[in-house]
Parts: sequence; C-alpha cells; structure tokens
Amino acid sequence: MRRLENILVTGGAGFIGGNFIRLLLENTPDFSGRIINLDALTYAGNIASLSDVQAKFGGERYCFEQGDIRDVGLVADIFEKYGIDTVVHFAAESHVDRSIVKPDAFVQTNILGTFTLLEAARRYWAGRDGVLFHHVSTDEVYGSLGETGAFTETTPYAPRSPYSASKASSDHMVMAFYHTYGLPVTLSNCSNNYGPYQFPEKLIPLMILNLKERKPLPVYGDGRNVRDWIHVDDHNRAVWRILQCSKIGESYNIGGENEWENIRLIQTLIEIVAKAVGADADDLNRLVAFVKDRPGHDRRYAMNCTKIKRELNWERVIDFEEGLVKTVDWYLGNIEWVDGVRSGAYRCWIEKNYKER
Ligand code: NAD
Ligand code: DAU
Repeated sequence: MRRLENILVTGGAGFIGGNFIRLLLENTPDFSGRIINLDALTYAGNIASLSDVQAKFGGERYCFEQGDIRDVGLVADIFEKYGIDTVVHFAAESHVDRSIVKPDAFVQTNILGTFTLLEAARRYWAGRDGVLFHHVSTDEVYGSLGETGAFTETTPYAPRSPYSASKASSDHMVMAFYHTYGLPVTLSNCSNNYGPYQFPEKLIPLMILNLKERKPLPVYGDGRNVRDWIHVDDHNRAVWRILQCSKIGESYNIGGENEWENIRLIQTLIEIVAKAVGADADDLNRLVAFVKDRPGHDRRYAMNCTKIKRELNWERVIDFEEGLVKTVDWYLGNIEWVDGVRSGAYRCWIEKNYKER
C-alpha cells in the first residue's frame, strides 16, 4: 500500500503544480496527507497563486520551501525534514519558444534538476517500501504527427525542440533509475493543458489577454498546427489516479483526445471573449496576425489514452468549450494576478526577444 502521506510537489508555484496542490487539499477527500511545495520561483512561479491555500492549510497540511531542485543539500534536507514518501515532479522550464531562444536553463532544470531529485530519492528511500517518484512529462517527447494516428506509450521518442529534448532526457533518466536501481517510479506524458493560473506566454491565456487589450493575436505559420487540449484539473486527476493505483515502472499517456487547429481555437476564443466583454466578434477578428513560424514547429499532437482509461479507470470529465468559457472568465476576473505575473523577469525577456518574430 502506498503511503501518500508526505508528498513533495516540485514546481507547485507554477500552473499545473499549483492547481494540483489546490485539487488535492481542497477537493480530494481520499487524500489526508501533507504537501511540501519546493519551487525556485522563477519568472513562471508565483507563490501568491496559493495564498488562500497557505492561509487555510499552511503549517499542518501545506508547507512551502523556496529553492532550486538542483540544490543537492537542500533537496536531501527536505526528504529528511519532512519524511518524504512520494514525489510528484512538475518543476521545469516549460515554454518551447523560450527553449529556442535560450536553451541553457532547460538543460539545467529539466535534466540536471530531475537527476538531483532522483539521486536524493534513491539515497533517502534505500530499504523503504510504499514510496513513489512520479515524473510529469509531455507528449512533445514523441515528436510530430502527420495527418492521422495518435501517440501511444510505445511510440518511439523523437523530440524536436530543446524543450522536448530536455524532457525526453529526463524521462529516460527516470526510467534508467527504475531499471538500474529499482527506484519505484511512474511517468506520465500529457498533452496541452489549459485553465486558471497559466502563465500568459502560452497560447490560450496570451490570446485571451491580447483580445482584452485589443493587441494583435500572433498566429505562428499558417495556424493549422494541431494540439490536443485538456483541462488542468482532468490532467491532475489522472496524476492522482497514478499515485493511488498505478503499476511501478509504467508510463501513462494523458490527453483530452480533443484536437484543435490553432486558428480554429483562436476563432472560438474570439467569440467567447466578444460575448464576455460585449464586443463585436468581427472587430476582434481583425486582430489576427499571421507571423513567422516557430522554428521546428511540431505540426500535430494527438494522444491515445486507452491505457490509463482501461487500467486506472480515469476519464476526462471537463467539456472543452465549457472549460474555455470558464477560463476566459477567470482571466478577465483576475487581472491583478495577471499584472503580478507579468510585472517581473518575463516582461524584460519578452521585450528583448518577442519583437524578433
Ligand atoms: P510552469 O512553467 O507554469 O511552472 C514551472 C514551475 O517550476 C514554476 O513555478 C517554476 O518556478 C518552477 N521551477 C522552474 N525551475 C525550477 C528549479 N530549477 N527549481 C525549482 N523550481 C523550478 O509549468 P507548467 O505548465 O505548470 O508545467 C509543469 C510540468 O508539466 C512541466 O514539467 C511540464 O513539462 C509538464 N507539462 C506541461 C504541459 C502544459 O501544457 N503546460 C503539458 C504536459 C506536461
Ligand atoms: O503538448 C504539451 C506541451 O504544451 C507542454 O509540454 C508545454 O510545456 C506547453 O507549453 C505546451 O507546448 P506548446 O508549444 O504546444 O504550447 P504553446 O501554448 O506555446 O503553443 C500552442 C500552439 O500555439 C503551438 O502550435 C504554437 C502556437 N502559438 C503559440 C503562441 C504562444 C501561436 O500560434 N502563437 C503564439 O503566440
């Protein structure tokens, strides 16, 4: 029986990790343990996203540690101090465009950081049962699909950006620790997430905010690239199922099985935002601006999720268009949060790099 009592969540101040902590503490009756959130608070990390969680659960069931997953001493101390029995590893550099401009941090955090955590777990858990290291990864490790087909867990890895190559490398390291040292690991590869608290460099929040501010909507290439969208809560419920009842050493695909061409998604967002703010959709449509394509832009992702559905009894439950309406409302109603996350290091980076497109 897995303990799931003292869970180390890395990257819990980011988009998916933060929503995971909220889901577990507020909305998962069969979780009664404690969460330790280790996050370096990079440009993408915002601890204020969890201020209500801190106020409600701080000390007893939720603890925050600011620090870098590459810090060998700190990570070892955290295992010891909190008696960690489970790791859910979200922390990463996560944005493909940034990995093209500056890949260094991706190698450092995604590869070296994951290795540091694995080593700490291997040392601290030597001789212990009921422990688990779950690594959160991406569908991008599989590369790019043609017009048909979907990725399965046995699709060979073929990453094509520095981001996906760094994630693929970390996935291989996780599996190597299982095969070589017997470290109890699981791995999940998920498709594009959307929902509240996503940093507004990613497609959906960027488009919502540009629409609100009447700024151009940069569409890369011909806009016909396809992504498979899933609500962050559906992703996180799948991760929870994996923690509860997966088989050690297995990897699971998670996705919405919900493919959208970027341009069609942007047009849907235009309609939702127009309705929400009382604007004319045709006026907003004029903001669409086709720009230079992302180098190495993967054409299509699609996930086959048969394994997790059949073996762990997981299903996506959030309807995409309803989820989008709620997400638009969330961004329009949380401008203070948006201003907060856009005010720091990211703003400098985007001013320096974005105009190149
Ligand atoms: P994010 O960029 O929103 O958050 C990443 C978090 O990691 C931030 O809080 C940041 O401060 C922290 N972090 C970065 N470097 C760190 C370091 N060296 N030490 C400690 N903390 C550090 O990312 P996200 O979108 O929430 O993604 C979380 C995980 O899920 C990533 O591993 C990503 O590869 C994976 N993933 C993301 C998606 C998606 O659509 N966003 C889909 C599939 C998988
Ligand atoms: O597939 C899972 C991955 O999804 C995760 O592993 C990554 O962490 C996450 O960032 C996301 O990667 P993408 O590159 O697919 O997401 P992004 O939101 O950057 O882009 C989605 C699509 O929209 C992609 O085809 C590029 C396009 N795009 C993106 C931006 C930011 C545009 O056309 N214009 C834009 O301004």
